[in-house]
Amino acid sequence: MIDGKTRTCGLIGNPVEHTLSPVIHNTLSEKLAQNLVYVPFHVKEGMVEDAVKGARALNILGCNVTVPYKSEVIPFLKELDPLAEKIGAVNTLVSVEGGYKGYNTDMPGLLRAMESDGVQITGEKVIILGAGGVARAVAVLLAQQKAEQILITNRTLQKAEQIAQEVNGLFQSKTVSAVTLEELCGLKDEGYLAIQATSVGLHPHDDEVIIGQDAFYHKIHTAYDLIFNPGETKFMKLAAKAGAKAYNGLKMLLYQGIIAYELWNDMAVSDEIAAEIYERLKKALKDE
Ligand code: ATR
Repeated sequence: MIDGKTRTCGLIGNPVEHTLSPVIHNTLSEKLAQNLVYVPFHVKEGMVEDAVKGARALNILGCNVTVPYKSEVIPFLKELDPLAEKIGAVNTLVSVEGGYKGYNTDMPGLLRAMESDGVQITGEKVIILGAGGVARAVAVLLAQQKAEQILITNRTLQKAEQIAQEVNGLFQSKTVSAVTLEELCGLKDEGYLAIQATSVGLHPHDDEVIIGQDAFYHKIHTAYDLIFNPGETKFMKLAAKAGAKAYNGLKMLLYQGIIAYELWNDMAVSDEIAAEIYERLKKALKDE
């Protein structure tokens, strides 16, 4: 029941019509008996500053921020969490004295998803496929979590090289290096974790894959695709065929939302509730 004490959170993005975030947050409020409602806000190009000011004026408790505003929103924030600063992208605004503080819960969300799937980062050899904004964020997470080696590959190699240089600079390390797709297939070592951070294979292009060679899939023990629609991407299918474990990105979506909700409400969400929300998300995806 919405009443005079209902607090509001929302999503700033363009477009927002297909978001699953209201399923996460409104179900959390229902399960946790919180008087909080979460709504999508379609913010038109050039209106981000006004949106942040307006949210502030309306006493909105917090917002998620999605494409294409995750970096554009940063200048309009009062404070910035250090991890979000390193990543250069904010997906969660939390109301603080005098404005909003920006966080990135996407990468902590990926970390929590991996932990819940029993996938390790610390001390591991990891391959990142892609060199866009998401791939860069993954490289920061892996460096922060002390992966032993981080190889990054991309169709446009130059972009992978730039990320390697930037992330090594941020962490004063030499952990990240850029490699070509051909070099990946010829790796001497095995036992890599591979994280697929491009849009290749996203529905309706279910049959597309960033790398098709069997040789690559025999080098990896685990494939983590950040795509969640389809639930099993071609990348995951090829990995499974080669004997690797394969996971999609739905748990990352779940946990980025849960971490945002925890920040807004200053509380911890239990594993049991997280599992219930995960089931709701799977159902919502099926019904789409
Ligand atoms: P995001 O912010 O979601 O990471 P992005 O910055 O547009 O999105 O990055 C998209 C990534 O997917 C890039 O690594 C891109 O490769 P390029 O840098 O070479 O463009 C990759 N990508 C998209 N479509 C691709 C395709 N058909 N084949 C190979 N890589 C592709």
